[in-house]
Amino acid sequence: MNLKPFLTAAALAALAVSPVFALTEQEINANVAALISKMTLEEKVGQLNQLSGLGYSPEMVNAIKAGNVGSILNETDPAIVNKLQREAIENSRLGIPLIIARDVIHGYKTIFPIPLGQAASWSEEIVEEGARIAAEEASSVGIRWTFSPMVDIARDPRWGRMAEGFGEDPVLTTRLGMAMTRGYQGDDLSKPNTMAACAKHFAGYGASESGKDYNTTWIPEVQLRDVYLPPFEAQAKGGAATFMCSFNDICGVPSSGNKHLLTDILRDEWGWDGLMVSDWGSIQQMIPHGYSADLRQAAEQAANAGVDVDMEGYAYIGYLKDLVEKGEVSTEQLDNLVANVLRLKYRLGLFENPYIDESKINFYAPSSLAAAQKAVEQSTVLLKNDGILPIKKGVKKIAVIGPMADAQHDQAGTWVFDLEKEHCVTPLTSLREKYGKKNVTYVPGVKFSRDLSHDGFDEAVKAAKDADIVLFFAGEEAVLSGEAHCRTDLTLPGAQKELMAALAETGTPIVMVVQAGRPLVMNDEVAKAAAVVYCFHGGTMTGPGLTALLAGDANFSGKLPVSFPKASAQVPLYYAHKNTGRPAEGMTLINDIPLEAGQTSTGCTSFYLDCGDGPAFPFGYGLSYNNYSYSDPKLSSATLTPGETITVTCDVTNNGSREGREVVQLYVRDHVGSLIRPVKELKDFASVTLAPGETKTVSFEINPEMLSFYNAQLQKVTEPGEFSVWVAPNSESGSPASFSYSDK
Ligand code: NOJ
Repeated sequence: MNLKPFLTAAALAALAVSPVFALTEQEINANVAALISKMTLEEKVGQLNQLSGLGYSPEMVNAIKAGNVGSILNETDPAIVNKLQREAIENSRLGIPLIIARDVIHGYKTIFPIPLGQAASWSEEIVEEGARIAAEEASSVGIRWTFSPMVDIARDPRWGRMAEGFGEDPVLTTRLGMAMTRGYQGDDLSKPNTMAACAKHFAGYGASESGKDYNTTWIPEVQLRDVYLPPFEAQAKGGAATFMCSFNDICGVPSSGNKHLLTDILRDEWGWDGLMVSDWGSIQQMIPHGYSADLRQAAEQAANAGVDVDMEGYAYIGYLKDLVEKGEVSTEQLDNLVANVLRLKYRLGLFENPYIDESKINFYAPSSLAAAQKAVEQSTVLLKNDGILPIKKGVKKIAVIGPMADAQHDQAGTWVFDLEKEHCVTPLTSLREKYGKKNVTYVPGVKFSRDLSHDGFDEAVKAAKDADIVLFFAGEEAVLSGEAHCRTDLTLPGAQKELMAALAETGTPIVMVVQAGRPLVMNDEVAKAAAVVYCFHGGTMTGPGLTALLAGDANFSGKLPVSFPKASAQVPLYYAHKNTGRPAEGMTLINDIPLEAGQTSTGCTSFYLDCGDGPAFPFGYGLSYNNYSYSDPKLSSATLTPGETITVTCDVTNNGSREGREVVQLYVRDHVGSLIRPVKELKDFASVTLAPGETKTVSFEINPEMLSFYNAQLQKVTEPGEFSVWVAPNSESGSPASFSYSDK
């Protein structure tokens, strides 16, 4: 007989010589059932109630003692965490531990690049390592549940939350999302240095209409399954211990009340037995959505749809008891929700080890800072270089200009509740260290990214004239992206465009370094710059990472995880688009149209008169100090049948003089489908490190499953026909090979 659930955790801790870990899943389920059989209706509802930290207040202590709260978010004081936990263990009737949750999105104290930036590394190692460090730091203060990774596919950079995810592509997002979850959860979730991951926001949140946060979505189920659900399906089948449902509605049904999504697909089809938490107040928000008449109905709809935990919504704690007593939510359904919560507590080892060792807090370890710097180096994308970079040895006078050069707070980017900005090393600090203070003149030009004043221009222009090179640190402050921070104008904010134009007038070569939470539209600035470096927001070690790259001590290898538009009104924009019946060709642009031209004279194909077609920089794009060449792909066979694979090989050569990492991408096109297929889809990618002059053969496997999609009957099918395959440095290059698939 397993005695663990019948002893308080404090008693167990006293007995244990070293922490006790890892019950089997069978033991966990038996313990959960035994515990549920002892719980009152009120205690069950209490487990489903999540409150935001109120410190060690009488209100919180009373709620815990009464068994009215199951988890707490936003409590980060380790002493208070232990005190609250002690109330739950020792002073509530059943001694069920609390879970402490927090939004630890791209680092707790040591801040890594924003997730969109990490995605530009295309490196599962970088992402996993960042999440591991975040888990080590956050769990040391008692946080055992993070609301991350965000695996929403985002194709509209107006949406501020694009910063929090891995970009526009399902394959890249799936792989990096899983890496992040592995980092948080470690190899054994019951160890005290782990955090339960939370795949969010389930689902379709990134499709918010017109890129406006919380907005409605209209996603046909085939598109939902082809584009938005794959990263969640992977998490459900071997990833995150928890999910969060999204704020948006899909085709009129808010996720918090969407039984089809939360139960039919997630539980019944994918077999997931984790914990589903609502988003903040999202159960209650079904009232303004117009889906629930009142909070009672919202609670009923959420509970029956399959939301386990009500985050700060007060719907369950207010109405669930009555709903169960009146039979509107069955006891069986209630017990399912409670079991999902208790199972997580067992999986986290909280019954065995509820308390933290307050002496073991360890932030900013040298190895963590080194990993954060490496993440900046691998996440930064070189968009243009006419040869000005790396900064030449003879360069003596460097003018550092721009609002982001020394903005400690803004290096970190969005969602850093626990940021200590004094730990952020800015580019200015690192450049002065590298090149000597007297050689680096700093004139911000504008005080912050939205600053409209030209008052600082003259001084900045003078500094530019006196310098050998200008490093212009432009971009968006952290607060311009993230939740509820959407923009319709995707150009550089404030007077930065004018500042760049004024600097360009001086004739001194300009390296523009951009930090932002989304792709920006920068056509004029790119044209004026000798080099353009895109860093997103790099976190604590932005300065050292960027300086190493600019100086040539490290090499660029980042590649874009999203398409960069040429105009704000061009979005949504993504490489995996459909071809249309009239793909763009023979474009006559607005300034080339003769006066009184005939209506059809511009060719009647699919493009904009004022910006043509396609992105400014494509998905997957990024330069390096080396030039890599790719051989044409070779296929092991020109035909594929069920149960077989085709091996695709390609020789990649480093023609440069430095070692470098190249991210090699595999794209496929299915030429004819019963539902038309995108012009290209990423299917796989790999990083290769190449010495100068070295060639390596990169190989990928293609199997029929990778070619499948949902047809109009919602069956996942691979249809016979012709396919093209590219092995390429980005989504717009390379020459394809072809093969056919036959299901015979
Ligand atoms: C709202 C956000 O949508 C979600 O991502 C976050 O985890 C919760 N608030 C908790 O802060």
